[in-house]
Amino acid sequence: MAYLLGVDLGTSGTKTVLFDESGAAVASATVEYPLYQPKNGWAEQEPNDWWNAAKDTIRKVLSDSGVDAKDVKGLGISGQMHGLVLLDEQGNPLRKAILWCDGRTQKECDEITEKVGKERLIAISANPALTGFTAGKVLWVRNNEPEVYKKVSKMMLPKDYVRYKLTGEYFCEMSDGSGTNLLDVKNRCWSKEILEKLDIDPALLPELLESSDKAGCITEEAAKETGLMAGMPVAAGAADNMAAAIGTGVCVPGKAFTTIGTSGVVFAHSKEVQIDPAGRVHTFCSAVPGEYTVMSCTLAAGLSLKWFRDTFCKAECETADGMGVDPYVLMNQQADKSPIGANRLLFLPYLMGERSPILDSASRGAFIGLSAIHQKHDLLRAVMEGVMYSQRQNLDVLRGMHVVPESMLACGGGAKSPFWRQMMADMFNMPVKTVHNTEGPALGAAILAGVAAGVYEDIPSACEKVIRENDPLLPDEARNAAYETYYQLYCTLYPALKDAYGALQDM
Ligand code: XUL
Repeated sequence: MAYLLGVDLGTSGTKTVLFDESGAAVASATVEYPLYQPKNGWAEQEPNDWWNAAKDTIRKVLSDSGVDAKDVKGLGISGQMHGLVLLDEQGNPLRKAILWCDGRTQKECDEITEKVGKERLIAISANPALTGFTAGKVLWVRNNEPEVYKKVSKMMLPKDYVRYKLTGEYFCEMSDGSGTNLLDVKNRCWSKEILEKLDIDPALLPELLESSDKAGCITEEAAKETGLMAGMPVAAGAADNMAAAIGTGVCVPGKAFTTIGTSGVVFAHSKEVQIDPAGRVHTFCSAVPGEYTVMSCTLAAGLSLKWFRDTFCKAECETADGMGVDPYVLMNQQADKSPIGANRLLFLPYLMGERSPILDSASRGAFIGLSAIHQKHDLLRAVMEGVMYSQRQNLDVLRGMHVVPESMLACGGGAKSPFWRQMMADMFNMPVKTVHNTEGPALGAAILAGVAAGVYEDIPSACEKVIRENDPLLPDEARNAAYETYYQLYCTLYPALKDAYGALQDM
C-alpha cells in the first residue's frame, strides 16, 4: 500500500495527516503556535514555529501509524496564504512573517494602486491592492525597516518556506502566487510590469510551478529531522483554500464550498479567468494546472466565535472539559435557545477589519441592537448569524458573476456544527453537503503529492477515487424567509458605520 502525507500549515497550528492511497486518514497530528499581535490590526508568526510544527507532526504521524517511511511515496503542503517571509542569503528568516490577516499596509496599498493604476492592477493580478496580500507587506518592510529589506535574498510565502526547509529548494506555485498582487494571473507568471513599477527585484522571487509539479525531494538533513526517507518527492502544493478545493473535489466547474475556519471562504471553480471589476472577491489560479477559482475571504469567521469563546465562555469551557466534549458543542446548544434574529440583535464580524466584500481594513466588529433583555445565548447566536450573513453577502457577489452552482459543501471547523450547517442551508437557500473525509486542505495536499509522485494520474481522477459526499441538509422555506429580513438589514449596517470606523481609526 502507498501512503501520502498532507501537511496543512494553518494560522492556529500545523496539521499533518498520513493518508493511504484510497484517501483514508491513517494518523493525524497537530501542533499549535502563537499568533503575535503587537498592535491593533497587526498579525505575525515565527517561521521557525511552522517548521518545528511540521517536523514534530510528521514524526508523530509516522510513529503513531507504524507505517514504514519507505511506503510513504510523497508529501504535499498547503498553507495560509499571503504571508511574507523574508530570508537572508543563508536562507534564515530576517524577521517574523507578516500574515494574511494583518491590516497595517493601507498606505502601501494606496502606493501600489497609484504606481500600477487600479484598473491595470486588477487586469494583471486579478485583484485590487489589498492589505492582506503580500505586495503591500513587501513595501511596508521596505518603507519602515529599510535595514531589514537591504538584507533580503528571497521572499517566500509561508508553506513555501516550510517546503524549502524540507527540500532545500526555493519555489512558489500558481495558487499561492496569485495572492501576492505580483502574479500575472491570466498568464501564470510573475508580472514584469508590476515588479518594475513597484521597483521589486524579480531575483528576490522564487521560480513558479503548478501545484501538482514535483518541487524537489526530502534532503538528508530533513530526513534526519522528520524520519522521512531522503529523496522522497515533495509536491509544490497549494494555498490552503485551493488545496481544500482539491480535498473536497471542487475541481470542476459547477462545484463550490464554504469554509468556516479562522477565515470564512466561499469558493467556486472555473475553467476561465473571471474577475469582479470591483475586486470584492478574489480570482486566483486553481491547483488544477491552467484553471481558475473565484473566492471571497472574510477575516474573522471562526475567529469571531473563538473570540467569543475565549472572552465570555470560560464556564462552558470548564464544563465541556469535565464532560470530555468540545466547548463549541455546548455553545451551539446555548445559541439554539435564542430565536432566528437573536431577539433583534445583529453582529458585524469585522474583528480584524474586513476584506470581502467591503474591503475596509478600518472596519471593526459591532453588536447592533444590544438591549438589557439580551442574554449570553442571544449574543452567541448573533455572532454565529453575523458570520453566516457575511458569507451570504459574498455568495451573492459570486452569484452575480454566475459562478455558483445549486449545492454547497461546508468545510472547516465550523462545518462540524450541524447547527451552523443548517443555518448555512437556510440562509443560502440551497442544500448543504459535507464530504466523508473532513481533512480538506491536508487531503488536497496529499492528492497533489500523489499526482507529483505518480500514485495518481491526475487531480480530477484522484478526486473521483478518493472523495465521497454525504447526504445534504436541505433549506427550510420559513426559516429562509425569517433570515432574509435580518440579512437585508445586515447589509445596510456597514455603509451606515463606514465613516465612524474611519474616524475611530484616526483617533
Ligand atoms: C485567503 C486568505 C485566507 C488565508 C487563511 O485569501 O487570506 O483564507 O489563506 O489561511
